[in-house]
Amino acid sequence: MAKPPASLSGQDVGSFTYFTIKDRLPQILTKAIDTLHRHKSEFFEKHGEEGTEAEKKAISLLSKLRNELQTDKPFIPLVEKFVDTDIWNQYLESHQTLLNESDEKPRWFYSPWLFAECYMYRRIHEAVIQSPPIDDFDVFKESKDQNFFESQESIITLCTYLQQLVKTIEDLDESQLKNEFFKLLQISLWGNKCDLSLSGGESSSQKSNVINSLEDLKPFILLNDMEHLWSLLSNCKKKEKTSIRVDIVLDNSGFELVTDFIFANFLLSSKLATEIHFYGKTIPWFVSDTTMHDFNWLIEQVKCSNHKWTSKCGADWENYVKMGRWVYHDHIFWTLPHEYCAMSQVAPDLYAELQKADLILFKGDLNYRKLTGDRKWEFSIPFHEALNGFHPAPLCSIRTLKAEIQVGLQPGQGEQLTASEPNWLTTGKYGIFQYDGPL
Ligand code: F6P
Ligand code: MG
Repeated sequence: MAKPPASLSGQDVGSFTYFTIKDRLPQILTKAIDTLHRHKSEFFEKHGEEGTEAEKKAISLLSKLRNELQTDKPFIPLVEKFVDTDIWNQYLESHQTLLNESDEKPRWFYSPWLFAECYMYRRIHEAVIQSPPIDDFDVFKESKDQNFFESQESIITLCTYLQQLVKTIEDLDESQLKNEFFKLLQISLWGNKCDLSLSGGESSSQKSNVINSLEDLKPFILLNDMEHLWSLLSNCKKKEKTSIRVDIVLDNSGFELVTDFIFANFLLSSKLATEIHFYGKTIPWFVSDTTMHDFNWLIEQVKCSNHKWTSKCGADWENYVKMGRWVYHDHIFWTLPHEYCAMSQVAPDLYAELQKADLILFKGDLNYRKLTGDRKWEFSIPFHEALNGFHPAPLCSIRTLKAEIQVGLQPGQGEQLTASEPNWLTTGKYGIFQYDGPL
């Protein structure tokens, strides 16, 4: 197997990566500072003077971080003790050693982008945990909630659709069931447009009825391996396996998470799966990523809806969790900077957990970057090769494109797209279902 190519990095002036580090990341930090500031009186009401002092401290740490980033300072080790501090500092050191050959220190624009970006979110977390008593404050919570509330109409439409479908699901023939499977998969794909890090944390909710748009969106699916997913799960069902396990590595909270829940609900109701395992983030991450708190909060919100079918969905989801048919897993690996091909060494327990799945779905762009190592692969290199040895179970990436990386295309396809639409890789307009596993 050929040596993986170089990582995407901010040193490529004019690239999306460069623009992200130069403009988008500082913007995200500014928004986080602003959020803390706006919660000033709430912190005071809750904790008195101590709350005010903590808010000031967190703000000053974040301002310092923003300055380090904008002046391209070397990365500094993490100082506050947390479960992953040692792993982070070791990672930092190993990069230092690698770069030292060229007498450079790892810094914002001259390190792998994946590392720099993950480091920023980890430092945001450090600023917060260094500021008790507000050390459990999620600076992105407000934007995530806003996304959920602004998508209400679409959420109601989806929940109603699902409830009607579930009522008659036993009467559907194979091809009707397959059709519904494809529909809900596509809804979950386009739900990934609603990520908040691309918009700098500004609102990016789902206002239109996505079910009606599916046909129009089809031409934007560049790779479509939905058939493989169907064959895999419908074969498991036909064989009457006692357990069919689908694992979903979650991405964004808010509307996207609802679309994932709708799909997961459908999998159980159609008996295409018997258990679903979800993986979320241990700390606030890439603005809108799902934490355990977001996961539970969203189910509760949906359950408390005034709308009959929406609240029925919420009640069912809560029940699935109670009955252990939906299982939420936390693991620090998801908020480390490592590529997934390192998982079996860095987090063998997590790798072993994923091996139990019949199918693993990786939602979103960041997961794709980590699957493929965030490297400058040729567009036509096979996905299997870009995974670089990461094959815990049959897997599928479900992602809208928001970073300059894509593999597994037809020869010439990527180049053609670049010629006609220079920003095709980064606007979230295109999507993929990219499968790796036995056919
Ligand atoms: O560039 C857009 C971006 O902020 C990337 O940094 C990151 O890969 C992605 O969005 C996050 O998107 P998603 O929520 O789909 O993982
Ligand atoms: Mg995300």
